[in-house]
Amino acid sequence: MSPVYQATASAPVNIAVIKYWGKRDTKLILPTNSSLSVTLDQDHLRSTTTSRADASFERDQLWLNGKEDEIKPGSRLATCISEMKRLRKEVVEDKNLAEPKISQYNVHIASYNNFPTAAGLASSASGFAALVASLAHLYALPVSPSTLSLIARQGSGSACRSLFGGFVAWQMGSDAAGTDSLAVQVAPQEHWPQMQALICVVSDDKKGTSSTSGMQRTVETSPLLQHRIKYVVPERMERISKAILERDFDTFATITMADSNQFHAVALDTEPPIFYMNDVSRAIIALIVEYNRLSIANGGGYKAAYTYDAGPNAVIYALEENIKEIAQLIVSYFPQKPGEFKDVLGLFGAGAADVNVHAKVPVGFNEAVAKKFEVGAVKGLIHTRVGDGPRKLGDEESLLAESGVPK
Ligand code: DP6
Repeated sequence: MSPVYQATASAPVNIAVIKYWGKRDTKLILPTNSSLSVTLDQDHLRSTTTSRADASFERDQLWLNGKEDEIKPGSRLATCISEMKRLRKEVVEDKNLAEPKISQYNVHIASYNNFPTAAGLASSASGFAALVASLAHLYALPVSPSTLSLIARQGSGSACRSLFGGFVAWQMGSDAAGTDSLAVQVAPQEHWPQMQALICVVSDDKKGTSSTSGMQRTVETSPLLQHRIKYVVPERMERISKAILERDFDTFATITMADSNQFHAVALDTEPPIFYMNDVSRAIIALIVEYNRLSIANGGGYKAAYTYDAGPNAVIYALEENIKEIAQLIVSYFPQKPGEFKDVLGLFGAGAADVNVHAKVPVGFNEAVAKKFEVGAVKGLIHTRVGDGPRKLGDEESLLAESGVPK
């Protein structure tokens, strides 16, 4: 029997606290500013990908959640696959004549997200990171995650940050060929284990503007973006990196919220304007602002930081000791359908079946800052924490059947 060349890997989702918004090169995906994100735990949200190379495969093929996705010539997907083949050829085959030339074989790739696309959570970051990670194992590439991030970046900009766990910076770089536009780890997962996240999945019927086209329009039309790139982001990158290293939640929270606000401000400053947040998103901001105000008035510090990507979902970063109180506050305004709340980290223990019985606002909280919404306005809450980078998985987790098509 001839050997099977196959590898399976999983990769995490990341949510930026300094937002990437704007490209200086749309083909190579080179950003107009550096960005920084927190990697979320793959135990809860992940993409898994299996890649196999075989001399008998007639063409490169990819299946996403079991459905074939065409690999169009010149597409981001095609670029990532051909760049990985090029690396294999360069760093392995030229040096070891005994190895079979598997870079010349076609590949079959199956990818699966363990969270519904309908949740509106970006799957392109974890998806491209898992693709690149699985090909790196298939090709036995002795390269660093930063090197792989150069390739994942060409699939989707934010994907380059999912090659690391913990706290990750995407350095914009200055080279026109993009050789220095890569991800680096600011601090590992274990550095700040108390950091957790509560994702509020907000109902959204409208088809929003995609990140790719939205950010290009912002680059072309927003004067505020130019100010952000030049004067705001460089200083924030420095300050938030330092805050992370010092586990300074006050500074982390202030910068995170300011940067989310500014990203949505440049979206609004785009011609025609782009709106990603809705009334529910804005109500969650009002709750977090009041929650922090109360804590500070009582002599404490910031307890929560909201951030929003190109959609209405809120991601709330907070330390473990405050997460339960925040979840109770959110369900007070956004009742959940009993049974929908998945208490993966055991926030409410056995009482999680109907999370609404835990609804509670802190003493002294000004309840008039937002109205109470109907069931379904926030259609799900995901409680998670900081996670690790891509994982190599065993053959038992392969998504491809022996025949080379998805199981
Ligand atoms: C708002 O990485 O999805 O989430 O590079 O065009 O694929 P492309 O865009 P994408 O943009 C992400 C934008 C963001 C902010 C961020 O993640 O930094």
